[in-house]
Amino acid sequence: MSDRFLRACRREPVDCTPVWFMRQAGRYLAEYQEIRAGHSILEVCKTPELAVEVTLQPIRRFDLDAAIIFADILLPLEPMGLSLEFAAGEGPVIANPIRTAGDVAALGAVRPDADLGFVLESIRQARAALAGEVPLIGFAGAPFTLASYAIEGGGSRNYIETKRLMYRDPDAWHDLMGRLSDAVADFLAAQVAAGAQAVQLFDSWVGALSPDDYAEYASPYSQRIFSALAELGVPRIHFGTGANTLLPLMAAAGCDVIGLDWRIPLDEGWAAAGRDLAVQGNLDPVALFAPEQEIERRVLDIVKRADARPGHIFNLGHGILPETPPEAVGFVADLVHRATRRTG
Ligand code: CP3
Repeated sequence: MSDRFLRACRREPVDCTPVWFMRQAGRYLAEYQEIRAGHSILEVCKTPELAVEVTLQPIRRFDLDAAIIFADILLPLEPMGLSLEFAAGEGPVIANPIRTAGDVAALGAVRPDADLGFVLESIRQARAALAGEVPLIGFAGAPFTLASYAIEGGGSRNYIETKRLMYRDPDAWHDLMGRLSDAVADFLAAQVAAGAQAVQLFDSWVGALSPDDYAEYASPYSQRIFSALAELGVPRIHFGTGANTLLPLMAAAGCDVIGLDWRIPLDEGWAAAGRDLAVQGNLDPVALFAPEQEIERRVLDIVKRADARPGHIFNLGHGILPETPPEAVGFVADLVHRATRRTG
């Protein structure tokens, strides 16, 4: 039984610093690869028995303080009318991306129970299987990051189509963002009702925006989601990458925990977001490829910067990469626990 993750989210004292890893279920684990050999990523997401098995795999193998439900941020785009595929080696592909105000107007609404019931069922089954051993995190993509996939049709380097719509047709942009934020707020509330004990909003690509553009085109919608969740009483984690100039604005959007990437020292990021929030992060995912001694030096530096203040959740600064040696994950989890054990 570990409640130190939820305690740290609330900035309560803990026996040692909790640790989990973004993308902790995934291709770096042979047992995940084995399941993926017989099923596509969408099949795994849509089959609760498989999604639960994959959710539990890292919990069985490592001493982690939270599980995250196996799903994907792009799943709500399908019921809105976008066709979603994961091409091998290429990442997500949307064959009918949004380009015009008409495309936005044609989008459907998301009814979480009817359209994404498989995620809710996975959450119910995962809670039962975890039997209170560690808390379960639910998640969704933030409107900006979802819009970038919906408009570009996949990953992007410069977000030209996204910003083209934003700058040339702000009405269509705001219409799209309103629809995405309604869908995400309802979906996250349904995840909490199904048993998610904390929620994380992934705004993975928000670092593409300047602070002014973030304030005008993105943050009102993330704010709408966080305020809809406020009354549910579960910790709300807000994560972006390349977003260090946005941290004060991301904090102001109404989260309880701010996620930091590795490009900023933890203490500086925490100060920028505000000491009244908890903080999650922020080891470089590629540090897991270094020799143990070097990993240790970097982990201890983060621990030192957290300075035993209540409210630090150890994590990577972004998701685990597929090539990561699994031993490094166990090494970091054990080291964080050992190095932060509070006595007396
Ligand atoms: O363990 C966990 O963290 C839960 C599962 C999870 C997945 N996707 C499963 C998945 C989570 C939290 C996500 C979130 C997600 N999905 C994000 C935000 C997090 C981040 O890293 O910034 C984003 C941007 C996506 C969109 C997405 N899904 C991409 C870009 C890809 C391809 C990436 C790649 O490395 O190929 C996916 C597919 C995907 N979703 C995989 C997994 C494990 C890999 C596909 C596979 O198993 O073959």
